[in-house]
Amino acid sequence: MSQTTSKTMPKTILSAENITAGYVPDLNILSECGIELKQGELIGIIGPNGAGKSTLLKVIFRLLAIREGNIQFAEKDIAKLETHTLVSLGIAYIPQIENVFPNLSVEDNLKMGAYLDSGLVKPQMKKVFELFPKLIELRQTRASQLSGGEAQMVAIGRALMMNPKIILLDEPSAGLSPANQKIAFDSIKEVVASGVSAIMVEQNARTCLEICDRVYVLENGRNAFTDTGENLANNPKVIELYLGSLGATDSKD
Ligand SMILES: Nc1ncnc2c1ncn2[C@@H]1O[C@H](COP(=O)(O)OP(=O)(O)O)[C@@H](O)[C@H]1O
Ligand SMILES: [Mg+2]
Repeated sequence: MSQTTSKTMPKTILSAENITAGYVPDLNILSECGIELKQGELIGIIGPNGAGKSTLLKVIFRLLAIREGNIQFAEKDIAKLETHTLVSLGIAYIPQIENVFPNLSVEDNLKMGAYLDSGLVKPQMKKVFELFPKLIELRQTRASQLSGGEAQMVAIGRALMMNPKIILLDEPSAGLSPANQKIAFDSIKEVVASGVSAIMVEQNARTCLEICDRVYVLENGRNAFTDTGENLANNPKVIELYLGSLGATDSKD
């Protein structure tokens, strides 16, 4: 019976509950904030600038310590583990900016991704090239010469080099043209289809609601709305707050 249940109900791979965190004493940026990621899901986080979206990813990756709450990954308490340990356990993080080494070739960028385990370079590079064949022809190209979409592909590929179970992506479409945004989002969908679960912070709310299984809306460091992308896209409050003006600019191809 439990086998049937686990088939229909994917396992929770990461959960952060009641997270309170901040950068300076006595000022909490996140308050009782939470997120859950199930095996195979692509989860989105949207919300106004300064809502704490990036902070939530940083907390999960232990770039910032939590003050209260707990974080579990693969049924293990990870809130106090160091970042490099989290990487070894299977968590990858792609920051919003400076996520590739501009002076290194695509291939060397990928190699750097397996810095904790050089044994992974060969098998994982093979996987990355299978997932993103475009990078094969670009392997000797310096990252600084890539388009924004290609550079995101390299950043994602580099994150995959440690064979992660989950990927945390901070605004992968920021600053990209619509065509390059599409490349970045398609790459993320490929990665999730390959079996890696993902949490993605996004400024492009409309696309985020379209492609994610579930989306969390953060406001002032707290959970405001959580639902499937489809339900949120039809929620009048969410439309008014997040899709009204964005919808007009994002809808053209
Ligand atoms: N390194 C930092 N030191 C102090 N405050 C910070 C730092 N990084 C972010 N903040 C503050 O935390 C709040 C949330 O920031 P952030 O998580 O980056 O928001 P979002 O990603 O939702 O735009 C903002 O008020 C921001 O000014
Ligand atoms: Mg941010």
